[in-house]
Amino acid sequence: MLSPQALLGALLLSAVPSALADTCQAPIDHPGEPYSYVQPRNTTILADGHSLSVLPSPNMTGNGGWETALVKAKRFVSKLTLEEKSWMATGQPGPCVGNVLPIPRLNFSGLCLQNGPQCVQQGDYSSVFVSGVSAAASWDRQLLYDRGNAMAKEHKAKGSHVILGPIGGPLGRSPYDSRTWEGFAADPYLTGVCMEETINGMQDAGVQANAKHFIANEQETQRNPSYAPDANETTYIQDSVSANIDDRTLHEIYMWPFANAVRAKVASAMCSYNRVNGSHSCQNSYLLNHLLKGELGFQGYVMSDWGATHSGVASVESGMDMSMPGGFTLYGEEWTEGSFLGKNLTSAVKNGTVEVSRLNDMIVRIMTPYFWLGQEKNYPSVDASVGPLNVDSAPDTWLYDWKFTGETNRDVRANHSAMIREHGASSTVLLKNERNALPLRKPRNIVIAGNDAGPLTQGPNLQANFEYGHLAGSSGSGSCRFTYLSTPLDAINTRARKDGSLVQSYLNNTLLATEALTSPLWIPQQPDVCLVFLKSFAAEGEDRTSLDLDWNGNAVAEAVANHCNNTVVITNSGGVNVMPFADHPNVTAILAQHYAGEESGNAIADVLYGDVNPSGKLPYVIAYNESDYNAPLTTAVETNGTWDWQSWFDEELEVGYRYFDAHNISVRYEFGFGLSYTTFDLKNLKAKDSTPANLTALPAKRAIQPGGNPALWETVYTLEAEVSNTGDVDGFAVPQLYIDFPASTPAGTPPNQLRGFDKFHLTAGEKKTVKFELMRRDLSYWDVTAQDWRIPAGPFTFKAGFSSRDFHARKTATLIKA
Ligand SMILES: *[C@@H]1O[C@H](CO)[C@@H](O)[C@H](O)[C@H]1NC(C)=O
Ligand SMILES: *[C@@H]1O[C@H](CO)[C@@H](O)[C@H](O)[C@H]1NC(C)=O
Ligand SMILES: *[C@@H]1O[C@H](CO)[C@@H](O)[C@H](O)[C@H]1NC(C)=O
Ligand SMILES: *[C@@H]1O[C@H](CO)[C@@H](O)[C@H](O)[C@H]1NC(C)=O
Ligand SMILES: *[C@@H]1O[C@H](CO)[C@@H](O)[C@H](O)[C@H]1NC(C)=O
Ligand SMILES: *[C@@H]1O[C@H](CO)[C@@H](O)[C@H](O)[C@H]1NC(C)=O
Ligand SMILES: *[C@@H]1O[C@H](CO)[C@@H](O)[C@H](O)[C@H]1NC(C)=O
Ligand SMILES: *[C@@H]1O[C@H](CO)[C@@H](O)[C@H](O)[C@H]1NC(C)=O
Ligand SMILES: *[C@@H]1O[C@H](CO)[C@@H](O)[C@H](O)[C@H]1NC(C)=O
Ligand SMILES: *[C@@H]1O[C@H](CO)[C@@H](O)[C@H](O)[C@H]1NC(C)=O
Ligand SMILES: *[C@@H]1O[C@H](CO)[C@@H](O)[C@H](O)[C@H]1NC(C)=O
Ligand SMILES: *[C@@H]1O[C@H](CO)[C@@H](O)[C@H](O)[C@H]1NC(C)=O
Repeated sequence: MLSPQALLGALLLSAVPSALADTCQAPIDHPGEPYSYVQPRNTTILADGHSLSVLPSPNMTGNGGWETALVKAKRFVSKLTLEEKSWMATGQPGPCVGNVLPIPRLNFSGLCLQNGPQCVQQGDYSSVFVSGVSAAASWDRQLLYDRGNAMAKEHKAKGSHVILGPIGGPLGRSPYDSRTWEGFAADPYLTGVCMEETINGMQDAGVQANAKHFIANEQETQRNPSYAPDANETTYIQDSVSANIDDRTLHEIYMWPFANAVRAKVASAMCSYNRVNGSHSCQNSYLLNHLLKGELGFQGYVMSDWGATHSGVASVESGMDMSMPGGFTLYGEEWTEGSFLGKNLTSAVKNGTVEVSRLNDMIVRIMTPYFWLGQEKNYPSVDASVGPLNVDSAPDTWLYDWKFTGETNRDVRANHSAMIREHGASSTVLLKNERNALPLRKPRNIVIAGNDAGPLTQGPNLQANFEYGHLAGSSGSGSCRFTYLSTPLDAINTRARKDGSLVQSYLNNTLLATEALTSPLWIPQQPDVCLVFLKSFAAEGEDRTSLDLDWNGNAVAEAVANHCNNTVVITNSGGVNVMPFADHPNVTAILAQHYAGEESGNAIADVLYGDVNPSGKLPYVIAYNESDYNAPLTTAVETNGTWDWQSWFDEELEVGYRYFDAHNISVRYEFGFGLSYTTFDLKNLKAKDSTPANLTALPAKRAIQPGGNPALWETVYTLEAEVSNTGDVDGFAVPQLYIDFPASTPAGTPPNQLRGFDKFHLTAGEKKTVKFELMRRDLSYWDVTAQDWRIPAGPFTFKAGFSSRDFHARKTATLIKA
């Protein structure tokens, strides 16, 4: 078996396209070109799916607060030679996972781009934060901001200028997608809030954020083209999967969180591996020029995913501004010969194929966020210790003489572990709690079971699909390097010692599931509680094939429950697990903790023992059966044609809970669900002010700002409700607002769509007012004819409560008369 590092290396290498695949003269995508090829098919949504060509790529304007930085960037670019500009648009092997060469003549020390969304991936002595899906499950704006901010401070201290994250997609169209844990929620609204808070947190720390992956990167299978299995792997066999999406779905589901990211002035966006409507995302001019830079008013730069560039001129003209990782040594060639950009871009400008104004705009876009964030002033140098941890380009592949200054092996953790522990606890979702199982009250006799409870046994503190060891992160570009890991076994033992409890641990799943428990191991005494820690692994590069817990987890849960009348199951997973053991009468409690970072063990102990009252809510649906989910991944094609991988997003808006609700399918645990040790009520949902008399269906046409038409972001209607803590203990309430759109909205509109939430503390018996401020976009659908957001005529139904299926109050209101 390959080491996790070798595995990751292989993965990244396989992602790099052949150096010989194309020239800088690849066609601009337009109908009829192979680069925009969608197989003909009868479908309601795509009569002739293809991406339209939208040229030229718009210049940035500096709108929305970047005006001064833009002036500095233009001044800087005016001093560059043509060659320097070409190389700035092209990555270099070097210490960081992505590198832009320094230009010492201009005191520019280059750009260091680093993974990833949960930590400094190439960082020793750095923290491992809670994963994206955990953070989303907190439904806590402050937590999201603080997490992004602290993570960025660590990146900055290690010398990263750009963090490759956060992740607005995969959104979780299918629960089998293996990267949903890197991102946030299977809902555009919640993911949008997560994107905005995280980006604000990161950029307030002075580090550039990168919104990825644009767009519809909803599966790993065939995310990249496949090559013939010859020695050189240079023969191109089948192109990457094409996500074929109608315009309304793209706007209302997949693009929605990216609009929040752009509004938060994200420095960069990453175009994804997959094709969209037949065109590679990084050379899809409709996506990049029209939607991202045009409609959303994106002012930063578009960077390719690693190896997602498949052409030179076509990509540049279609709006891609930076190709990563750029020059790449493949098949023994010089790295300089591996790029569609680099020298080829220089000659394409020289011979007039690409206008120099386009290249200028590329570099101005790259440099404006740099000046905006003040990165030219006293920025920490790149820590030399990150270089050897670069699995993408090891030090012996570097061609530039990278100079390192400053301390090496910098410890950048500050006091973040306390925050990570709090985050781990407040993002834990309590799914079941019967017979007063939790919180624990000084149990005298405790059993700890499951191979997820104990320490990592197969170093070097990276997470992989190991049989033994606690899962608090995963692998791929979102992987982390643990300085230490608090495991449930450690944390509970420490706790139990204080209480004088007896603790027996059984970490071998095979033993538990198959043999030993025909007669229980803990005879003669019946334990007060059995804590079963189970996990499932999901990582970049390979989609999940099952939604069950790994290592026979379901059988372990059943086996323990058959002999222990107070069985508490805790899962550490990247996303959805179906949980057949939830029906077992001896399974008294279930907690989903996801991948909770370095303080995972302490955090779960805090929740189990009631030091923290759980307040996490599911950011996706847990169905009864795997077969209940829609939108299966495209995992195979029966033909051998180059462009045969087509993924049809036929479910349109019915993503996640929207589908289950539209078809009245009962679920085990719904989106937004999560228990507390107390109870809450919500009543009196009412409009704060009278309905605005002059509200128009379409927004006023105002000058585009980052995020699009600013009129879309204005609050036009505000609802309020009274929330009370009706239980005996203090806790955090998460009131949620869902909208059922008027009947006049075009067909296919899901019955419930999240459009507001808040999270606040309530002492036992306390009441507070929750305010849901609805922006114009929240109340609109994307009108494909008008090409605008329209508030539909007729009565809306607003539903407020504590999950997508637990509504305590409703209100109807007509905002636009028919
Ligand atoms: C589309 O459907 C029509 C009518 O059902 C059929 O005649 C035609 O062959 C189909 N076209 C394709 C490309 O499947
Ligand atoms: C994809 O094709 C559909 C149908 O032609 C169209 O509605 C949509 O706008 C296209 N999207 C992109 C990004 O090309
Ligand atoms: C961008 O600006 C340059 C010069 O400022 C101009 O020549 C070029 O036409 C502009 N491009 C677009 C797409 O507006
Ligand atoms: C580079 O930095 C040095 C020292 O601070 C300064 O003297 C010089 O003017 C700077 N050069 C440029 C091009 O900014
Ligand atoms: C592989 O590369 C070698 C050396 O560059 C070349 O001679 C050979 O023809 C290549 N084989 C294939 C199948 O492309
Ligand atoms: C330019 O493109 C050619 C053809 O694809 C390629 O062989 C060459 O390596 C590229 N040059 C550079 C400097 O990347
Ligand atoms: C311009 O340069 C590019 C990159 O080297 C090359 O692919 C293209 O063929 C050239 N075009 C012309 C018209 O010379
Ligand atoms: C786990 O238990 C099984 C079944 O008894 C046994 O075969 C296996 O060797 C055990 N694994 C370890 C690491 O002890
Ligand atoms: C529940 O656990 C008890 C042991 O405490 C056991 O006797 C009983 O059979 C279990 N119930 C079920 C349904 O397995
Ligand atoms: C488990 O069974 C014991 C008796 O064996 C009983 O005292 C205890 O209350 C039961 N626990 C639960 C959670 O039902
Ligand atoms: C696809 O290619 C494989 C391997 O060459 C071949 O066995 C198979 O029959 C081909 N399938 C089709 C549908 O052409
Ligand atoms: C709508 O009316 C409010 C006050 O009632 C006013 O502030 C606002 O400017 C008006 N908007 C338009 C578009 O007329």
